[in-house]
This record gives sequence, C-alpha cells and structure tokens, in this order.
Amino acid sequence: MSILQIYHYPESVLKKVADPVETFDDDLKKLAEDMAETMYAAPGVGLAAPQVGISRRLVVIDCSPREENRSLIFAVNPEIAEREGEVFEEEGCLSIPGYYASIPRSARVKVRYLDLEGRPVEREATDLLAIAFQHEIDHLDGILFVDHLSPLKKSFFRKKYKKIMEQQQEQL
Ligand code: NI
Repeated sequence: MSILQIYHYPESVLKKVADPVETFDDDLKKLAEDMAETMYAAPGVGLAAPQVGISRRLVVIDCSPREENRSLIFAVNPEIAEREGEVFEEEGCLSIPGYYASIPRSARVKVRYLDLEGRPVEREATDLLAIAFQHEIDHLDGILFVDHLSPLKKSFFRKKYKKIMEQQQEQL
C-alpha cells in the first residue's frame, strides 16, 4: 500500500463531477486500499478519489480510526436515497488544511452504494457518519464543504485560507 498525494483547494480536479466506476477490478481495490492508507495517515475520517487527483466515484470513510475496531467503509458510486433532519457540526477537509466551519447537514441519511466487488449495499447513517457520507459524496460532485457557506462567510474563508497557505509556504 502506498500513501497518495492529497490535492488541495483550489486544484481543478476538486471542482469536477467525477465519473461513475464501471469496472470492479484489482486496480479499483488497490486505489481503495491506498486511499484508506492515505486517510489514516493524514489523519482523517473520510477521503474521496478526486482528493487524490482521480475523478472517479469512490470514497473511503472511517469515523472511528483510533479505535481498535476500525470500521472502514469503501463506497463506490454512492448516493443519498433519503435524508431527514438537520445538524450543524464543525467540519474540516483534508483538501482545505487548517480551516474548519459548521454548515447545515441532514441528521440522518439512507445511502446506497456498491462495495468493491460491485455488490449493492444500503445503510442508514446518523451523527458523524451521516455527515461524513454527505461530505464525501459532495466531493464526487465537485462540491467542497466551504461551498455551503454563505457568500459573506465564504469571502472570510478565502482571506483566511490565503493566510494559512502563506504561512505554510513560509514554513517550507
Ligand atoms: Ni473533504
């Protein structure tokens, strides 16, 4: 397994609508395993293929990465079938390092996706897992969590992110 390069905002691959996965082969499994490794190393609780520069509809999620019983989810071509309620939790993104904000998300979702063998899966998610599915599926549609900010907050984000990037450049 290898750790992949994570693309940062405003890379154009993050703004593209990703293509559906049609072939369930060893290359897909290798990519999924490498994405999981990259997510754990970051560390993060979710990663979508566009974040490693691959415009395909594949996400990995693990909301309990530090626990002994890791619950790693590989979701291919995921879709939200039902949603209910609303929550605001602070979110971050491995493609937007150093910036966190609360945005509205559905509190409970039903998701449908395929596993790495192409078998259909349906599951309900609440709490952090529900938010993670919404955040990662957004990535597949070229949407970042900061795109959900109000125009005013988004202009604050742009200024703050510019400063964060400048500080990182100085540290290099
Ligand atoms: Ni993200």
